[in-house]
Amino acid sequence: MIDLRSDTVTRPTPQMRQAMAQAEVGDDVLGDDPTVIALERRTAEVLGKARGVYMPSGTMTNQVAIRAHTEPGDEIILEAEGHSYFFESGGPSALSGVSCRLIAGRRGVFTGDDVRAILRPKNEHFPRTKLVCVENTHNRGGGTVWPIERIAEVAGVAREAALKMHLDGARLWNASAASGISPAEYASHFDSVSVCFSKGLGAPVGSVLAGGDEFITRARRFRKMFGGGMRQAGIIAAGALYALEHHRDRLAEDHQNAQALVRGLARLEGIEADADAVETNIVFFRVTATPAAELVEKLRAEGVLVLAAGPHAIRAVTNLMVSREDINTALEAFARALGR
Ligand SMILES: Cc1ncc(COP(=O)(O)O)c(C=O)c1O
Repeated sequence: MIDLRSDTVTRPTPQMRQAMAQAEVGDDVLGDDPTVIALERRTAEVLGKARGVYMPSGTMTNQVAIRAHTEPGDEIILEAEGHSYFFESGGPSALSGVSCRLIAGRRGVFTGDDVRAILRPKNEHFPRTKLVCVENTHNRGGGTVWPIERIAEVAGVAREAALKMHLDGARLWNASAASGISPAEYASHFDSVSVCFSKGLGAPVGSVLAGGDEFITRARRFRKMFGGGMRQAGIIAAGALYALEHHRDRLAEDHQNAQALVRGLARLEGIEADADAVETNIVFFRVTATPAAELVEKLRAEGVLVLAAGPHAIRAVTNLMVSREDINTALEAFARALGR
């Protein structure tokens, strides 16, 4: 099977498994797992932040960040299709008791003016707005890379209004690989940053939330409250650390494969695909020939896995387990599936 459903489907490489098998471990809830400590330190260093805290998922790092930045009754600002709002099971309201004010971005990106337009005057009738969340790259936007000037502009408006900034950087590594801007430069505009190791980097489990010293102390308390305190977590942290050190450089390959895929798709009758809209490893395209769900099933029979993203939309994501040759094979499978 050529699995293009997501970049989360990757399995650990033999070298990564070896690093995991040999990991030194301790009890991370008691704070003495050396591999978790090494991962948290190294991630914080790469992001230019004081400290980091390891958690099982990107959902948890985002939701713990939201909880740590707010109190129940507060309001947060998010992009309407951002993961923390759209795909995290109503976490902000259920876990933090906050309301969500949404901005409809353009492929996930919004402006300083968009934020300014919804700022509330100080008045006892209103919730207290506390946080602006940005997602880079933006998943439902199609792997969009936020221009750094746009981030600086939004951060400037947030700072003037005394709002904190959180970055969902599940795929910050892809943004950096595509733009050449370092993760630390992106992170410098944010009070907290969540990064994932289990997406493009190919580790089996985990995310780090990074930020200032006091913020991470508070975040550790909510990690425990949300059930994210793990014991001999060094086993999985070793996979994440291996991925952080060895798999960032190869992300450009996934981006080139995504370009090859979208360009090949654009040539097929019954598909509308825009190569200019593909900036990283996520390819969204429209199927005009058949309902998307039907094409997904035909492709499965041909040995290619993709996800329907709407009645006529499909998502394919290149990843560590998919080579250029696989992309060519997948394109042949698309042609056959559309021809049937
Ligand atoms: C942008 C973004 N943020 C957060 C997450 C959540 O990560 P996890 O699946 O580890 O909870 C995802 C998952 O795909 C994502 O795409």
